[in-house]
Amino acid sequence: MSVFLDACRRRPTPYTPVWLMRQAGRYQPSYRALREKVSFLELCRNPDLCTEVAVRAVDDLGVDAAILFADILLVLEPLGIGFEFTKDDGPKIAHPVRTGQDVDRVATAIDAAGSLSYVMEAVRRTRKALGGRVPLLGFSGAPFTLASYVIEGSGSREYVQTKRLMYGDEGAWHELMRRLSDAVLRYLSAQIDAGAEAVQLFDSWVGALGPADYERYVEPHVATIFRGLGDRVPAIHFGTGNPALYPAMRRAGGHVIGIDQRADLRATWDLLGPDVGLQGNLDPVALMAPRAVLFEKADAVLRAAAGQPGHVFNLGHGVMPGVKLDDARALVDRVHEESRR
Ligand code: CP3
Repeated sequence: MSVFLDACRRRPTPYTPVWLMRQAGRYQPSYRALREKVSFLELCRNPDLCTEVAVRAVDDLGVDAAILFADILLVLEPLGIGFEFTKDDGPKIAHPVRTGQDVDRVATAIDAAGSLSYVMEAVRRTRKALGGRVPLLGFSGAPFTLASYVIEGSGSREYVQTKRLMYGDEGAWHELMRRLSDAVLRYLSAQIDAGAEAVQLFDSWVGALGPADYERYVEPHVATIFRGLGDRVPAIHFGTGNPALYPAMRRAGGHVIGIDQRADLRATWDLLGPDVGLQGNLDPVALMAPRAVLFEKADAVLRAAAGQPGHVFNLGHGVMPGVKLDDARALVDRVHEESRR
């Protein structure tokens, strides 16, 4: 077993496991050099390069888990929703889904192992290259976060189009969420079949909602995914932007809830109860602070967790492009040293 998987199962561990969301990415000189040669989507579709990038992050940082190199938007292709990554402003959906008729054009079932075979191949090869050193996490975007891209057509601040569909045509909204959730469950199950030893559901933009809207428009769909996954591997349920959602997210499912820097870790854990794990909480910008401040903030997260079994150290969101590799490495070492028991 591994320290990371043990923590996900709330077993005692000799130290607190740590990995960083977006641990493979542009803050690494090696990643930037590779991206001079291949586009982001070429990289995602090349299992050998995905393996190299995922394993390199583990070697650079000394983290306790690897994460599959892929993107949350890849699942949109078999759903029949075309997208591209533009050079500067990130993802763009060619024809955003805005009406009930648009929803009818989204595929009702995907063959994840077949249509996303390059992702499954990356899982198999990364697992092999890791050789059991650390476990491999698979992942998917959560239905709300995927829906927000699909509806807005790109990243968004206010989610106006998303909420217009949600409030204006509840039937179409639920139909879209059903199709996305079914695809997410099939996609994650295929990753587990291919060798993923844990999975994380990224609900990166769900904080745009309050608890009542989350319960009505999102929770039933996310609950279907976690019920479908069952207890095959540990599942991490990550959401950011609104700590008031964590009780409902916990009801929806997951062995571990991933929280951001807006939440108080101790208060959140006491509220959610001891039979769930907790991940995250360090502000990603702390990695740009002076080393002493970074360590102070990391130590504070460890103190709040108080060695309670089920803690996985992580940031509140992904590593930002301006971070220095040395600082990220120093954070991982600090967590290992300070938490040793
Ligand atoms: O190391 C890892 O964590 C694994 C790889 C990973 C990527 N994307 C690679 C990536 C993971 C887990 C993701 C998830 C993802 N993708 C999320 C959820 C997590 C989060 O950060 O909220 C979201 C919302 C996306 C969608 C996405 N992908 C956006 C908005 C962008 C553009 C903005 C940005 O940060 O560049 C991407 C591109 C992307 N995904 C990059 C990487 C390494 C950068 C692409 C590049 O090389 O230019």
